[in-house]
Amino acid sequence: MSRRPLVAGNWKMNGLRASLSELDGIGAGYSEALKAKVDFLICPPATLIAEAAARAAGSGVAIGGEDCHAKASGAHTGDISAEMLKDAGASYVIVGHSERRTDHGESDAMVRAKAEAGLRAGLSVIVCVGERKEQRDAGNAISVVQAQLAGSIPDGATANRLVVAYEPVWAIGTGLTPTAADVAEMHEAIRQTLAGRFGAEGKNMRLLYGGSVNPENARSLIIQDNVDGALIGGASLKSKDFLGITASYI
Ligand code: PGA
Repeated sequence: MSRRPLVAGNWKMNGLRASLSELDGIGAGYSEALKAKVDFLICPPATLIAEAAARAAGSGVAIGGEDCHAKASGAHTGDISAEMLKDAGASYVIVGHSERRTDHGESDAMVRAKAEAGLRAGLSVIVCVGERKEQRDAGNAISVVQAQLAGSIPDGATANRLVVAYEPVWAIGTGLTPTAADVAEMHEAIRQTLAGRFGAEGKNMRLLYGGSVNPENARSLIIQDNVDGALIGGASLKSKDFLGITASYI
C-alpha cells in the first residue's frame, strides 16, 4: 500500500473569523491534480472549528483540532474534548505538540491519553514528537524520539487513524531546519520503530515532517522516502504559502 501524503496546517493561537478567507483560498486552490495526490487538513483554533468545517464542506479540505482533553466531558474548565471537536465538524486532532508539552507540561502518558481520546471519538490523530536542540547536539535525537513514540502512541493504533509528526523543537517557528539527510535518518528510525511495534500498520502510518517548512524548502524536506507530508505552522496562515508548499507534489 502506498501512503497518501497529508499536508496539515496548524494555525496555533492565530486567526479570527476574518482569517477564514485564507481557508477559502486553500479550498479554492485544492485542484483536482492535488486532490489526486495529497490530503489537505487545516487545524484552526477551537473558536473557528465549526465555521471552518461549514466553509470547507465540499472543498475536500479536512478540519482538525489542535489539542483535546483526555476525557469525553466533565468539570474541566476551559478544556475541549475530542467528542466536542468531532461534534463541531473536526475529523482530526493534533496531540503532543511541543508547545503543549512545554507550555502545559504534557508528559508522554498525557499525550497518549489524549490520542486515545481522539481515537475513541472517531477522529484521526496526529501525534507529535521531536527532540530539543541540546538533545540533538548530544547525539540523542533518535533515542529521545523513540521514547516519545513508545510513550505517546496508544496500543492498537492503525495506519488509517494514526499519523506521526516529527517536529524537532528547535526547528519550530525558528526558520531553522534539519538537513534533508537528517530528516531521512530520523524518519527511517521512526518507521522501523513503528513497524517493530505495529507490524504492517506501522509500515503504513504516515510520517509528517514539521518545523519551518515553507514554499522554498518544502521540496527538499518532504519529497523523500518515509516523509508522507508536512505539519505546517506559520506558513499555513496564508493560502499562498500553504499552496506554495503543496505545489511540491505536482
Ligand atoms: P512552523 O510550526 O511551521 O511555524 O515552524 C510548525 C509546527 O509547530 O507545527
